Amino acid sequence: MSSVTFKEKDSTLLQQDTIDKKVDSVLNLMTLEEKIGQMNQYNGFMDFTGPVPNVEDTERKFEHIKMGYVGAMLNVRGVKEVRAVQKIAVEQSRLGIPLIFGFDVIHGYETMSPIPLAEAASWDLKAIQESARLAAKEASAAGINWTFAPMVDVSRDARWGRVMEGAGEDPFLSSEIAVARIQGFQGKDLASQESIMACAKHFAAYGFPEAGREYNNADIGTSTLYNIVLPPFKASNDAGVRTFMNSFNQLNGIPATANTFLLRDILKEKWNFKGFVVSDWGSVAELIPHGYAKDGKMAAKLAVNAGTDMDMESHLYVNELVSLVKEGLVDSAAIDDAARRILKIKFELGLFDNPYKYCDLEREKKVMGSTEIINGALDMALKSIVLLKNENQLLPLDKSGQNAVLIGVLATEKNSPLGNWRAAAKENTGVSVLEGMQQYDENIIYSKGPDLTLGKIEFTKEVLINNSDTTGITEAVEVAKEADVVVMVLGEHGLQSGEGRSRTQLGLPGLQQELLEKVFEVNKNVVLVLNNGRPLALPWAKENIPAIVEAWQLGSQSGNAIAQVLYGDYNPSGKLPMSFPRNVGQVPIYYNSKSTGRPSLPSPDFVFWSHYQDEVNDALWVFGHGLSYTEFEYADLSVIDNYSSNGTIEVTVKLTNSGKVKGKEIVQLYLRDKFSSIARPVKELKGFELVELEPDSSTPIRFILDKSHLGFYDNEGNWFIENGSFDIWVGGSSNAALKTTFELNEIE
Ligand code: NOJ
Repeated sequence: MSSVTFKEKDSTLLQQDTIDKKVDSVLNLMTLEEKIGQMNQYNGFMDFTGPVPNVEDTERKFEHIKMGYVGAMLNVRGVKEVRAVQKIAVEQSRLGIPLIFGFDVIHGYETMSPIPLAEAASWDLKAIQESARLAAKEASAAGINWTFAPMVDVSRDARWGRVMEGAGEDPFLSSEIAVARIQGFQGKDLASQESIMACAKHFAAYGFPEAGREYNNADIGTSTLYNIVLPPFKASNDAGVRTFMNSFNQLNGIPATANTFLLRDILKEKWNFKGFVVSDWGSVAELIPHGYAKDGKMAAKLAVNAGTDMDMESHLYVNELVSLVKEGLVDSAAIDDAARRILKIKFELGLFDNPYKYCDLEREKKVMGSTEIINGALDMALKSIVLLKNENQLLPLDKSGQNAVLIGVLATEKNSPLGNWRAAAKENTGVSVLEGMQQYDENIIYSKGPDLTLGKIEFTKEVLINNSDTTGITEAVEVAKEADVVVMVLGEHGLQSGEGRSRTQLGLPGLQQELLEKVFEVNKNVVLVLNNGRPLALPWAKENIPAIVEAWQLGSQSGNAIAQVLYGDYNPSGKLPMSFPRNVGQVPIYYNSKSTGRPSLPSPDFVFWSHYQDEVNDALWVFGHGLSYTEFEYADLSVIDNYSSNGTIEVTVKLTNSGKVKGKEIVQLYLRDKFSSIARPVKELKGFELVELEPDSSTPIRFILDKSHLGFYDNEGNWFIENGSFDIWVGGSSNAALKTTFELNEIE
């Protein structure tokens, strides 16, 4: 008899125990083919990221569901469709095991919130969690129970189109945001009808593609891997994320999908991850073009042995694993382990109790686009806006009688603001900037300027840019001449960033720079509203344009949020989660770089130091930068060293709102371990706090640092901490000026 009675175990453990037993009993009933079936995920009947399935292929998929050879689907959505497909699995397969339904709920389902990079600019963890909760609520009402989000890939390369889907360049901020998103999606109880499973992706180093080119490989050292790439994944696991997704790339020569070091040694052993790993779309089959597997059979063997539990759309597990097991090339224990992980989650989701729990037509009607969700999208959009520049208080605009004109084809866009990854959104449902501004000024004059794109914009197709047809520039310049202020909405179309959308140029695409300069020639009062899914290099604009607002792609409520900020009904508080370069040649550029042996100019006119001859080193706008309509001042930075008594260092600072209006500030703490056995970055974010202050008021801010902030990973992936000197800065960006230093001597 066990010495531990059930009473002594807590109820979660008890529940877990019961689930494990249930899983075992299901597993005992299953044939090898059915177990492998659980490890197979098929795309549904639309097409998003791969080759279009032909009719025969679709029929085969249906047949396989009936045979119990499918564990999960993706891109099957909407209550009617999900119920119909689930019914086949439950009623026609031998064991009636329900399917999981996955979908890319990346920033909303039908109602779009801002793109994830924009949400990250809010640094508002509560708001980000709420945004994920609302996305889960809407998606689950449409039959979905698994999102392929959050993408937690840290990236330093704005050329890479998928930076729009992450939380930027910093591992600390990315980890906090990953946790917020997971908690939002999965809720307190995964079995709740409104929770969906989250998926930390792409494991690992997808955010480090060489030269910023999509799907390219990453060759990175262990210091970067352990300290920059892996922390958000570890944080996701610690937060209880149920699934991980492989990345497409090779990491130091071994594709992530077949990477035993990543999947077994780190994820499943070191981190003790109990959920399952899904491949990325077709990434098992891609082991062949990677030059890592000879054929499909070898690819399936390598992937499953490395620890990839579910094959998304390669069809290789279902085709090859039975014979691989029979030939002794794959251990049946590996199949049992993968099937067990998947079945366990089906129990946790409550699918065995009610396979149709996400299939309530009434709920779908009620929840889709509900006021609660729309208000949430607006709230998140407001919080995501970053005021980059505001000279002479050109902003906010004067609500009474200022003659403002609006220019730019993006200003009337209702699709582009929805951003990429918005397959379930209805076309043209974003509020445009024009519509938003008309609520303040119904007679506002609008001039389109030249077209940005050519032809139809589609998810799977290249976006074609207009580089030659200047029609519209002359009219826009004319309109601008007489205005008190000119608002120009320029940037990227929503589908210029995202998967498959790398760029080698980071300026304004097409004829927009020309338009901007020509308008500025006739009217200096230009407010530039940027729409973009990645940092852009805009040195001319920074130098010349007096007011610049970073408005990303803000989702369904975009125009309303932008108008509220422009007219001062909302005081912006966002801060950049990624450095903006001056020039694409600086990329990858990031604030938390390592120093060099020659970091600064030793004497004037001497070339032998780490620099460019044609550009300065620093960013155009640094990580953490963002202004407000009020002013904040920092003072009285001090450190209390309690390390010997309780293992903490306490840092305090006084924040004052010295401006004229109420505002929010994101107070940021940066640290530098000045010398150590493995050199540390010149600055690392280790804390932040969102504070709201009335004008003329002050508040003390306190940060507590402990071992988890002061240490780092060595090249074997062990966390450790060393004695020495540390610099601390606290302020409103990574350029914070207020600095102090302390010594740590207490480490044995
Ligand atoms: C490929 C993408 O890399 C991944 O992030 C996404 O979840 C899948 N396609 C499914 O759409």
